[in-house]
Amino acid sequence: MPRILNIQGLSFGYRAGAAPVLHNISLQLNKGEILILSGPSGSGKSTLISLIGLLRQAPPGSINLFGADLGTADRATQLALRQRLRCIFQRHYLLHSLTALQNVAAGQHFQSRPGLADPAALLAALGLGDKLGRWPEELSGGEQQRVAVARALVSAPELLLADEPTASLDYENARLVVDGIAAQAARLGCGVILATHDERIMDVGTRRVEMRDGRLLPG
Ligand SMILES: Nc1ncnc2c1ncn2[C@@H]1O[C@H](COP(=O)(O)OP(=O)(O)OP(=O)(O)O)[C@@H](O)[C@H]1O
Ligand SMILES: [Mg+2]
Repeated sequence: MPRILNIQGLSFGYRAGAAPVLHNISLQLNKGEILILSGPSGSGKSTLISLIGLLRQAPPGSINLFGADLGTADRATQLALRQRLRCIFQRHYLLHSLTALQNVAAGQHFQSRPGLADPAALLAALGLGDKLGRWPEELSGGEQQRVAVARALVSAPELLLADEPTASLDYENARLVVDGIAAQAARLGCGVILATHDERIMDVGTRRVEMRDGRLLPG
């Protein structure tokens, strides 16, 4: 299996001199895997996701993404790497002046590689085929989050980072969202890291690691 991500001995603190919030993390992800990153509030899940997703500067020599060291990559390399991944957050951040379909199509705009998925077909596969022309406020929370899933996957990223994508959803909608992520990620062949403490959706992962106080628990 081709390796997407290799983290070795990552420690990270938000401020110089302050106590680190991540301690000696080592973690690998291969293509096609869905890794569940679980652990209580404050254990470091979002911090780790933000470093992998180039939303924060990683320390040198600890995170290798698609073969490049995030800590030493220059600006152009960082931008190129950023094109190969997408993030989904607890809040969906849909654009309210665009329909469901337009929101998803917008996911391909900032993409240098050609999009491999058809926006309408992807929405249909996520159970929203009859809602393409709806505005975000005319959709339920779960439907809005599925539009965000489609927007993230429509550019055929090689890595999907999802940070608590189901935290504000009821069981039925949480299920539809994670099952949609799993099915479409498998179809598009992308790796997934899903940070959550939602016990209801843990089964969607192919592997699970647990964080506690900034450390990965053994096992
Ligand atoms: N911008 C920041 N500046 C300083 N400390 C931060 C910042 N963001 C998070 N922290 C601290 O880092 C630690 C890990 O937080 P993080 O948000 O990564 O946890 P989490 O596992 O995602 O929690 P939750 O399940 O509540 O989302 C916490 O102690 C938190 O207070
Ligand atoms: Mg978090």
